[in-house]
Amino acid sequence: MRMVSPQPTLAQLLAVLGEYLTLDDTDCLSLPPAAYRSSALYALEIEKIFKHAWMCVGRAEYIPNPGDYYAFDVLGDMLIIVRSDDGEIRALSNICRHRFMPLVQDSGSTRRFVCPYHAWTYATDGRLLSAPHMAGAGRFDREQCSLPRYRLEEWFGFLFVNLNEDAPPLAAQMRTLEGYIANYRVAEQHEIFHYESVWDGNWKLSAENSMEYYHHMGLHSDTVQDYMPGQNSYTPPPPADLSFTHMRCGMNESFKSGGHTMSPRGRLDTFTEEDLTTGYLVYVWPAFTMAMRPNGNNWLSFHPQGPERTGILGGYLASPDLLEVAPDIGQQRRGVMERVNEQDKLATTELARAMHSSKAARGPLSPFEQTIAQFYRWLARELVGQPGPT
Ligand code: FES
Ligand SMILES: [Fe+2]
Repeated sequence: MRMVSPQPTLAQLLAVLGEYLTLDDTDCLSLPPAAYRSSALYALEIEKIFKHAWMCVGRAEYIPNPGDYYAFDVLGDMLIIVRSDDGEIRALSNICRHRFMPLVQDSGSTRRFVCPYHAWTYATDGRLLSAPHMAGAGRFDREQCSLPRYRLEEWFGFLFVNLNEDAPPLAAQMRTLEGYIANYRVAEQHEIFHYESVWDGNWKLSAENSMEYYHHMGLHSDTVQDYMPGQNSYTPPPPADLSFTHMRCGMNESFKSGGHTMSPRGRLDTFTEEDLTTGYLVYVWPAFTMAMRPNGNNWLSFHPQGPERTGILGGYLASPDLLEVAPDIGQQRRGVMERVNEQDKLATTELARAMHSSKAARGPLSPFEQTIAQFYRWLARELVGQPGPT
């Protein structure tokens, strides 16, 4: 594979990406450092991938009642995720139709959205209800001043938004995955704690970090390595439609049966022996991942906020039957999961810093990192435009 100069052009970076299309998983180098800081490559990723992608913006359970809402930005677009009075969850523009004031900050519950600037008032479905002293305004038509809506779909309790009005439905993208994860009963699960942060690094660093278990040996040596050692990881064949990538990691022998907080508990009859004795991670393009164990699920969603800045949203889901047998599971796992996330944040931030060093150079991927090779190949298909699965 070619080496590239410290300041490669976009064309050179795309040429490097294109090489992954024909390389075996075990014959790949990492991306060049510039791929993690190039403004031109970042702009292309946003235009060709993220502006047409389904991006997870949270969970339906954050807004259980009519009027519940939270503000959320996606690629600079400002959204209100709201459960409207009719019970439907909508993604509305958070920008007033008068003169652009954001309507809400943070989260809350309301019967109306009242603009803090001149008090135009909207229903929770986005209709403009009233606008004071607009009589005589020649261009004012209340019907034309509803808040615009974004595409939003719910999948197993997760809320996904797509900025492209014409994108194919999320359900089509998730269909294959659903077959692979059916045993895990994700649709039944509830979030028992939540994680939000900003990691100073390119979104691909966060993505790569979340799709391999190899780094348990180093970064998580005092946390998950104990019960899920990185050397036990293996990569099942990718799905035929390449709609996601996945990986498993065998549990440490002493954690396979009962007695430990991470041992399988709750309803276990839907799981195979492999499910019961491994962790299973799935990574859905471009930026959504779930790391699952029987009845537990650590999920993350990555939101690019610039070439070297990524918004992180995530949480830990548990099955109701696990909560029944272990009501304190949230306390038990919160500490370790928060520490793991902080370790991952540290790695991302440190890698981002290293990408600016003149001697930073591409390195060989391990056979434990086939998912990363598959990620680069997916990126190449999206950006270089070669055909997908045959
Ligand atoms: S900007 Fe909202 S009412 Fe004027
Ligand atoms: Fe990690």
